[in-house]
Amino acid sequence: MSSKKLVIIKGSPRKSGNSCVLADSLAKGAKDNGAEIEEFFIQKMNINPCNACNACIKKPKKECIIDDDMQQIYPAIRTANSVVISSPIYWFNMSAQTKLFIDRLYGLVEPNKQLMKDKRIGIILTYGDVDQVSSGAINAINSFKDTFKYIGAEIAGIIHGSASAIGEIEKNTDLMTKAYNLGKELSS
Ligand SMILES: Cc1cc2nc3c(=O)[nH]c(=O)nc-3n(C[C@H](O)[C@H](O)[C@H](O)COP(=O)(O)O)c2cc1C
Repeated sequence: MSSKKLVIIKGSPRKSGNSCVLADSLAKGAKDNGAEIEEFFIQKMNINPCNACNACIKKPKKECIIDDDMQQIYPAIRTANSVVISSPIYWFNMSAQTKLFIDRLYGLVEPNKQLMKDKRIGIILTYGDVDQVSSGAINAINSFKDTFKYIGAEIAGIIHGSASAIGEIEKNTDLMTKAYNLGKELSS
């Protein structure tokens, strides 16, 4: 039985969208390993942009003072071993919903990056075009790599693939298995 906890951030506006389907496969792998899952469908949450007030980096250190639904996500991340972010590719990068979440991590990691550097990270991306270059997924991948390198958190796996209609990714059994296995790995 695993005592690991995974937080999953779903950055698609489509609850049964392709990136969510892959995230669910990952969650199943983790659950089958006994892990606890806490999931956030951020399309339905009130998450504001970072407003650069810098309250989070002033002394004495406060967490983000914006009073919105990120206040539910911060404590979940604090107690998690892994954080998984799933997003569709929109205009050659991650979705706007996902980017809002990433910007707000500032309140958790600054000024000394301590609060996330022990987490393991999983990334899931889906796109309509044929590969990571033509779709622009490569831009999101590089952005996540830079972000988590800066934070000092290890990216354990990046799962990405092509699909358009809702749920179409399910036919890609190879990718579904890869997501499931990443869930197992993150919960081991
Ligand atoms: C506003 C919008 C922008 C998109 N931009 C891209 C893009 O730049 N590259 C791409 O390959 N697919 C693009 N797509 C297609 C989605 O990435 C694709 O349908 C993906 O599987 C959606 O994931 P989801 O089902 O998890 O929402 C776009 C779709 C929308 C609605």
